[in-house]
Amino acid sequence: MISEQELSELSFTGAPNIITDGVPGPKAGELLAEAPEYESMTRGGGGFPLVFDVGKGVTVKDPDGNLYIDVSAGVGVSSVGRSHPRVVEIMERQSKILMHASDISNTKRGELAKKIASIAPPGLRNSCISYFTQSGSGALECAIKFARRVTGRNQILAFHGAYHGVWAASNALTTGQQYRKGYGPFMGGVIHAPYPYAYRFPLPLGDKSCEEVCGDYVDYLLNTPYTAADDVAAVVVEPVQGEGGYVPPAPEFFQKVKAACEQHGALFVADEVQAGTGRTGRMWSIEHAGVEPDMITFGKGMGGDLPMAGVIMRKDLAQQLDDMSQPQTFAANAVSSAVTMTNIDIIQEGGLVERAAQLGKEVLDRLQAESGNLPIIGEVRGRGLMIGIELVNDRETREPADGDTMMKVVMGLLSNGIIMVPCGRNGNVLRLMPSLTITRDYMNKAVDILLDVLRNA
Ligand SMILES: Cc1ncc(COP(=O)(O)O)c(C=O)c1O
Repeated sequence: MISEQELSELSFTGAPNIITDGVPGPKAGELLAEAPEYESMTRGGGGFPLVFDVGKGVTVKDPDGNLYIDVSAGVGVSSVGRSHPRVVEIMERQSKILMHASDISNTKRGELAKKIASIAPPGLRNSCISYFTQSGSGALECAIKFARRVTGRNQILAFHGAYHGVWAASNALTTGQQYRKGYGPFMGGVIHAPYPYAYRFPLPLGDKSCEEVCGDYVDYLLNTPYTAADDVAAVVVEPVQGEGGYVPPAPEFFQKVKAACEQHGALFVADEVQAGTGRTGRMWSIEHAGVEPDMITFGKGMGGDLPMAGVIMRKDLAQQLDDMSQPQTFAANAVSSAVTMTNIDIIQEGGLVERAAQLGKEVLDRLQAESGNLPIIGEVRGRGLMIGIELVNDRETREPADGDTMMKVVMGLLSNGIIMVPCGRNGNVLRLMPSLTITRDYMNKAVDILLDVLRNA
């Protein structure tokens, strides 16, 4: 496993270090003020009071020279940290040889597809086909169409709290008014079922677990003539819900869903865009459940600094799709492919998946222990380096922390040099999803500051 010393050399030293009188500083403030004149504020970070100027490893500088520890990794993208020297080297080398090849085969894409087959989860390993695109939304878009094409069925089952992207079909699966309001109607044929979010489950459970109840309900939905018997092409599920609040259900839920899919002829699609690429302490987060997916969607951390996304499909399914029916001009260009392979090598050679499991457990244990003394924390949960801290106004009633409190916390973190972005159905979950290359020292510093900010919130 890579040493702490080696990891520390990947980032700036001395973080966090805020040198301006409050953040954003004057230069960042000016940029933020003029942004709405030129850039659409519909983007997710539209209201976030930070400007990135320089990135190195898990550290980021803004244009005023403030130095931050980023425990968000560009929303889970920078799996090996920003501008990793090996990534920069391969980018330089590959860009002198070949960059764009359109959809025509290129040597790097060919090598990447083989490599992905070798790291795919059991069931797909060395028996799968990769289809490439550029973003998570695009990957979901294609997975939905592929599932419909091979099953000859129409409907797609997704879950409350799900986030699968904002394109026409993926937005239909995504829940959350902030992403949907006014943009519909979306692709038809989508059914939403409850996700096992035990902390906020709206129905009585009796003597069953949340996972059992939700899993049984999926079985019911796939089998009732009132909804979709014999017409569901795929169940699309995040093995750990990301934007929905960092919710990691127990394996039983996925096992029940998989059994229902098998029984009723639907495909099981694991959306690994946020939770994949080693983040949860396994290369693929569905591996925690011991369930073999029919398809996987990937994005974010696979390509790291460069856009890379796609669908990994069971070979027998992929072979039913018509050749040349789904071209994409920018799919897996040679530089992105080379960088993705280097990312995977860095993760595997550094033992970063195992390290994510270990370090994540240490942080989770610490936060859970500390939460007893902090009434603002409702629940701490997570898997590997994907940890959510759900904040509440009232621990008894579980009323979510309000917008003002969240703003105070996020600003408190930023002004102490920690970048952390919230998520969740009520926007009240702080998420720890640092690059897998974060040092123990920086991780502990970030947690120390987080706990201080929460004490004073
Ligand atoms: C689970 C999941 N699927 C899909 C997407 C969409 O990815 P992108 O923003 O690259 O389109 C996201 C983005 O956050 C995600 O978390």
